[in-house]
Amino acid sequence: MVPDTDPGSLSETYLQISPNILASFPKFRPPVDLYVFDPEVGRTGRYLRGGERLSREGQDEVARFAEEGRLFLLREDYRVYAEHLSRKLGLLLVEEGFLPREVAEIFFIALRNRMADFLNQPREDTFEALRTDVAILAEYVWIDPSRVAFLTHTLERDYDLAVHSVNTMLIGLALYLRLSGGKVEKTVLISLILGLLLHDLGMVMVPKFIRDKEQFLVRRDRESIERHIEAGRNMLRRLKVQDPVVLECMEQHHERLDGSGYPARRFDKNISTMGRLCAVADSFSAIVGDRPYRSARDMAEAVQVLIGDGKRYDPVLTTLLAEVMDERVTD
Ligand SMILES: [Fe+2]
Ligand SMILES: [Fe+2]
Repeated sequence: MVPDTDPGSLSETYLQISPNILASFPKFRPPVDLYVFDPEVGRTGRYLRGGERLSREGQDEVARFAEEGRLFLLREDYRVYAEHLSRKLGLLLVEEGFLPREVAEIFFIALRNRMADFLNQPREDTFEALRTDVAILAEYVWIDPSRVAFLTHTLERDYDLAVHSVNTMLIGLALYLRLSGGKVEKTVLISLILGLLLHDLGMVMVPKFIRDKEQFLVRRDRESIERHIEAGRNMLRRLKVQDPVVLECMEQHHERLDGSGYPARRFDKNISTMGRLCAVADSFSAIVGDRPYRSARDMAEAVQVLIGDGKRYDPVLTTLLAEVMDERVTD
């Protein structure tokens, strides 16, 4: 038994399991240790170990504890329950007990998994699942734009296309919220989040061995990589996605202000704000990711690389990027 005389430390240590949260777990085998508060002695004790089987009576009892607000789990188990909650993302909009860092983790897992599913099978059903979660994230950030500072803390270093897409999205979203001073429309947020997530969609058509050797490309390999823009556009057309913001992100994220980019070699004003923003977010996310031919670079270093490249990257946006990275918070 753990003495819980101080309610403040109680909520630091435990998360109350509402009936909604309980419903996100497998009924017979909750994945985390369950704790129950006993009001008579004022203590919380463990009721069940994570992964142990619950009898039918046990399930009823646990459901009753949840109804009565007496059921808890340890916050330190958040990586386990985040995985379950990520499949019921709408809960994040109605439940109030989560800490911002837990919410950030749950969003990251959900979007990475949705993105991985969609990249594996780019079809209408996997796209709809992705779009549903994107709308929930847009709503969450729209309610309070300062929440993005927690989201940008969850960037991961692995370089896999799904992770790269989510990292790029989080950075691009934070940049956009700063650029627009927090005054945003929900529909624009949805479009931008989708555009940032889908910018490299066409990469699924580029053989992995070519993607992975990016540093030693011969001309033919480079052409093959550059075709990811067109391949992505074709895939969007098949999915009937014609949102202009999504298209701008995809078509312009490799364009550079000095005309050295691809595929259209656009210059300066011919690159849209969303295109520039996606370019900065994408490059930052590529620099900080682990690649097969080099290890990840420090985030502060990555910001400096982009700030030092003002001929190619919009200086207004790279300055905002430095601010975004300074403002990341964990708790
Ligand atoms: Fe790309
Ligand atoms: Fe990219």
